[in-house]
Amino acid sequence: MRRTLVAGNWKMHGSQAMVRAILPDVCGRLQGVATEVVVCPPFPYLLLAAELLQGSSHALGAQDLYPGASGAHTGEVSGQMLRDAGCTWVILGHSERRAGKCEDDAAVARKAKAALDAGLRPIVCVGETSSQREGGLTFEVVAAQLGAVLDGVGSDLAASLTVAYEPVWAIGTGLTASPEQAQEVHGRLRLQAEAFAPGAGKVMRMLYGGSVKAANAASLFAMPDIDGGLIGGASLDAGEFAAICLAAEGMSWNK
Ligand code: PGA
Repeated sequence: MRRTLVAGNWKMHGSQAMVRAILPDVCGRLQGVATEVVVCPPFPYLLLAAELLQGSSHALGAQDLYPGASGAHTGEVSGQMLRDAGCTWVILGHSERRAGKCEDDAAVARKAKAALDAGLRPIVCVGETSSQREGGLTFEVVAAQLGAVLDGVGSDLAASLTVAYEPVWAIGTGLTASPEQAQEVHGRLRLQAEAFAPGAGKVMRMLYGGSVKAANAASLFAMPDIDGGLIGGASLDAGEFAAICLAAEGMSWNK
């Protein structure tokens, strides 16, 4: 059985005041939940967030890392530093980084391996653009993105990956993939992971991301291969984020 997981990707939003307001509120609303909850604020707020999450069952994640332990890499942050700051998770290969920061599949694969080597659990994002979907290339695109990471980490570590399917056209647009559209992709990705490393596909958690809100979360999370969500905009509102996490409660039973 796969435990449901909901991660909040704050992107480049927030302030110390916001971290101090949102995290205790989220913790208060989510006491005793069985769903695994991860909060990913920007780098400067990780230490503060770690302090505020102490004593809760919720985890801290970062939004990127540099695939090296230390060295002359101005402006970069390593997996070891993230661990040191209290992170146990890291989001990798988000489409905003693939498109805006020229991250290709090979770079995402290196980062995933570096994350695992540092003891972090990577959430690897994959997803097609609207023109790729319209061109019938969805499965080809996401399979190449996942395949590169599977190859990069190898069959022994494949089960430690978490995948987030985030159609680019659904991110921050208010357009959500239908539960059936998302399930179709998740099902294919799971088969691909299982073919790569037998057993891994069955345990690997696959999150859906792209305009998830409290109002649509339950119908997405009820799908057999959707194990939770990666939440952008809605994670900046404690009530909305907590409601999304609560929508995942009890959805593990058939997964
Ligand atoms: P959104 O973002 O929920 O604001 O669409 C999701 C993401 O980019 O991870």
